[in-house]
Amino acid sequence: MSTNATPSDGRRRPRGARRALIAGALGVIGLTTVLIAPGTAGAAESTLGAAAAQSGRYFGTAISSGKLGDSQYTTIANREFNMVTAENEMKIDATEPNQNQFNFSAGDRVYNWAVQNGKRVRGHTLAWHNQQPGWMQSMSGSNLRNAMINHINGVMGHYKGKIAYWDVVNEAFDDNNGGRRDSNLQRTGNDWIEVAFRTARAADPAAKLCYNDYNIDNWSWAKTQGVYNMVKDFKSRGVPIDCVGLQSHFNSQSAYNSNYRTTISSFAALGVDVAITELDIQGGSAQTYQSVTNDCLAVSRCVGITVWGVRDSDSWLGANTSPLLFDTSGNKKAAYTSVLNALNSATPNPTPTPTPTPTVTPTPNPTPTPTPTPTPTPGTGACSATLSTVSSWPGGFQTTVTVTAGSSAVNGWTVQWTWPSGQSFSSVWSGTPTVSGSNVSVKNAAYNGSIPANGSTTFGFTANGSAATPTATCTSP
Ligand code: G3I
Repeated sequence: MSTNATPSDGRRRPRGARRALIAGALGVIGLTTVLIAPGTAGAAESTLGAAAAQSGRYFGTAISSGKLGDSQYTTIANREFNMVTAENEMKIDATEPNQNQFNFSAGDRVYNWAVQNGKRVRGHTLAWHNQQPGWMQSMSGSNLRNAMINHINGVMGHYKGKIAYWDVVNEAFDDNNGGRRDSNLQRTGNDWIEVAFRTARAADPAAKLCYNDYNIDNWSWAKTQGVYNMVKDFKSRGVPIDCVGLQSHFNSQSAYNSNYRTTISSFAALGVDVAITELDIQGGSAQTYQSVTNDCLAVSRCVGITVWGVRDSDSWLGANTSPLLFDTSGNKKAAYTSVLNALNSATPNPTPTPTPTPTVTPTPNPTPTPTPTPTPTPGTGACSATLSTVSSWPGGFQTTVTVTAGSSAVNGWTVQWTWPSGQSFSSVWSGTPTVSGSNVSVKNAAYNGSIPANGSTTFGFTANGSAATPTATCTSP
């Protein structure tokens, strides 16, 4: 990191406050009567960041260091966003590839680009079961606990005073039962999350410390309630936590629900900021993007929204799912306009929502899947699957697989293909793989087995070898 790369506050003051500053400045130079140019009152802002700043919020995106040479990408990102999250570059495998040997080259590229362009930075992420370097994956017990603490100190020390919000702990809850996810970190003891937060507070007292997760958007889901109860417990015991990040990866299995506003306001009522940290909406519904934006705007402690990528082609989900605000050619989509209009309609100082009393009692073991139809149609085997390469690099590639139901609903699916030659998985998400030689089989995860008639879901993987899109078959039991 260059030594002169100090963070800058990219937040714009609310319009009323800006007017007050202008009035103050004019007063200093001797004017007794100050007239505000009529054009400023109620003028719509023309970019997402500026529009969000009118109500004191930010609008951010995930930035990938490998794309900073793409001028279309940087032009859009620089124009529209005033908060940046490194998509992968500040994660554990990137920043500590060998134990106690820290590497901030890629993280600093993203950080420096952001601050040199007047943006703030969200740090992502310090303690996570995923994207651990090999040396950490094979650790356990007190060695792992100490390594986690050392990692938090090493990374937060490097960025001390420069990061607005840190995702201290990421995705620590189980998808199905509202309890903790099993992981090597969890097996070091249930207190690992609070130890991470206490370590983080000491390492950089200026950073706001967040817990970040997916599928905690729907207030009625057990996972949401599990995280809510943890935050409530932390606040009651003085464990230092300042914010909750709702990743908000919405798709047909994990759909936007109108109780999202209740989720945001309920977390906020615990005394933490809430941020929408990784927003993408498969299918790119303008209406859903508008609802998400309005729900954030309705809660004063919802501090900002980050979309997880710039153009559809930059998304981890693949461009064919159309999840973001700009198309692959960099054009603004309908979803962009709906978000911008919603931001421009926000009141400058959002009225704090009354403290809600969380009323939902989770059912004993609800799973984060949509309510099944009363009598599920037995699977007919009528599903299909297609592989699509998201990105590739020397020796590896990332693929999204879209699983589509036929004219009947599917309840459980398995996708199979044969690797052409030399490919092997390095990671798989939203599915459970079985590999036998070059024959690959991926079964649905617990939460995405049910696909409505003509609906679809996705899973993804990264693999070693040359990018390949073999023909896949899909069967349903
Ligand atoms: O670029 C490297 C390449 O140099 C290396 O050889 C290869 C080895 O596997 O990896 C390549 O990087 C891949 C990267 O995507 C670039 O496409 C990683 O393997 C791959 O794991 C990574 O996937 C990322 C995924 O997190 C991993 O968990 C996605 O980019 C990223 O968008 C995604 O982001 C996560 C959030 O951090 C947490 N919440 C969910 C979200 C979506 O999955």
